[in-house]
Amino acid sequence: MSMRTLAVGLGARSYPIHIGPGLIAEGSLFAPHLESGRAALVTNETVAPLYADTVERSLAACGARSFRIVIPDGEAEKRWETLDRVYGELLRAKADRRTVVVALGGGVVGDLAGFAAATYQRGVPFIQVPTTLLAQVDSSVGGKTAVNHPLGKNMIGAFHQPLAVIADTGTLDTLPDRELAAGLAEVIKYGAIRDLPFFEWLESNVDRLRARDAEALAYAIGRSCEIKAEIVAIDEREAGPRALLNLGHTFGHAIETIEGYGAWLHGEAVAAGMVMAARLSASLGRLPMADAQRLEALVRRAGLPVQPPALAVDAWLDAMGRDKKNESGRITLILLDRLGAATIEKNTPAGALEGFLSGR
Ligand code: NAD
Ligand code: GLY
Repeated sequence: MSMRTLAVGLGARSYPIHIGPGLIAEGSLFAPHLESGRAALVTNETVAPLYADTVERSLAACGARSFRIVIPDGEAEKRWETLDRVYGELLRAKADRRTVVVALGGGVVGDLAGFAAATYQRGVPFIQVPTTLLAQVDSSVGGKTAVNHPLGKNMIGAFHQPLAVIADTGTLDTLPDRELAAGLAEVIKYGAIRDLPFFEWLESNVDRLRARDAEALAYAIGRSCEIKAEIVAIDEREAGPRALLNLGHTFGHAIETIEGYGAWLHGEAVAAGMVMAARLSASLGRLPMADAQRLEALVRRAGLPVQPPALAVDAWLDAMGRDKKNESGRITLILLDRLGAATIEKNTPAGALEGFLSGR
C-alpha cells in the first residue's frame, strides 16, 4: 500500500487525511476510530454497488458491526427530506451516540451524512471516505457539512470535523470524466488563491490529470489537501482567511441555485465562477488581464465551462445576496490580485458588480 498521510491540526480534534490506492480495504485505517464497535455506513445508490461491500468488510475486520443507509444519487438529494430519511434509519437501527457514521461517496454524501452526524443525538463521530476527486481534494476535509435549501446552496449546516479522512485514490477509476473534470475546478482553485508554482504545475500537467495518470493525481490531491489543511487549521470557522477557499463560489452557488441543483455540477459552476471572479478582478484593475486569461485557459483545458449561463442581473444579485460570506447586506467576493494570491473583498462597489454582471 503506497499511502501518504497528512494532518489537519486542530488541537484535540486534529485528524489524519490518508491518501492512496486501495485504502478502503485497509481495516487498520478505520480501527482507531471504531472503539465503540458500531458504525452506520451512509452512501448512495451509485457508490454502494461499487464500494460498500469492501468498506463493510474493513469495518467487520476491525470488529465493528455496521448497517447500511443508501440514499438516492444527485445534488438534488442534498436536502432536508433526504436528511430526515437518514435520521429515521439511524433511529430505527437504534444508533446511539457512540455509533460512528461512515460517509462513503462524493461531496453530496459527505456533506449530508456529515450534517446528520453533527446533529443526530446532538452529534456523533464520523469518518469521511471520499470517492470523487472533488471530495478527496476539498469537501471531505475541513468539517463543513450541510444540506441545500431551495433558496440557497448549503444554507442549513454545521461545522463538524471528521475523525479521519480515508481517500482511496483507486476509487477514482470508476469516476465519470465529467465528474473528474469537476474535481479539477477545486484543484485549480488552490493554485489560483495560494500557490503559483502549483498553478504552473497544473498548466504543465492538466492533460496527465485528465488522462488519470496515477502519479499526477496523487500529487494534485496531496497538494490540494495540504493547502486546505493549512487554511482550516488557521481558521476553522471561517472568521477570515478560510473564505479564500470560496474563490468562484459566490457566482457558482448562484448558478447552482438558480439553474436548479444538479443542472450544473458544483465543480462546473465553481469553474465558471472563478473565471468570472478573475475577469471582475481584471476589470477592477487589480489583476493583470493576462493572468485572468491564463486562468480561463487552464479551466478550459481541464474540460470545464468558462462562461456562466445567461441570467438576469437581478437574479444574480438576489442569489448572491444570500451568500454566507455577506455582512450587513453587502456582497463579499473573493478576488485575485495575482495568480497565487487572493483577497477577501467586502467593499466591491455595487455599481461595478452590476455593470460587470450586465455585461455578461
Ligand atoms: P457528488 O457527490 O454528487 O458525486 C458526483 C457523482 O459521482 C455522483 O453521481 C456520485 O454518485 C458519483 N460517484 C461518486 N464516487 C464515484 C466513484 N468512485 N465512481 C463512480 N461514480 C462515483 O458530487 P461531488 O462533486 O463529489 O460533490 C459536490 C458537493 O460537494 C456539492 O454539494 C458541494 O456543495 C459540496 N462541497 C462541499 C465542500 C465542503 O467543504 N463541505 C467543499 C466543496 C464542495
Ligand atoms: N470549500 C470551502 C471550505 O471548505 O471552506
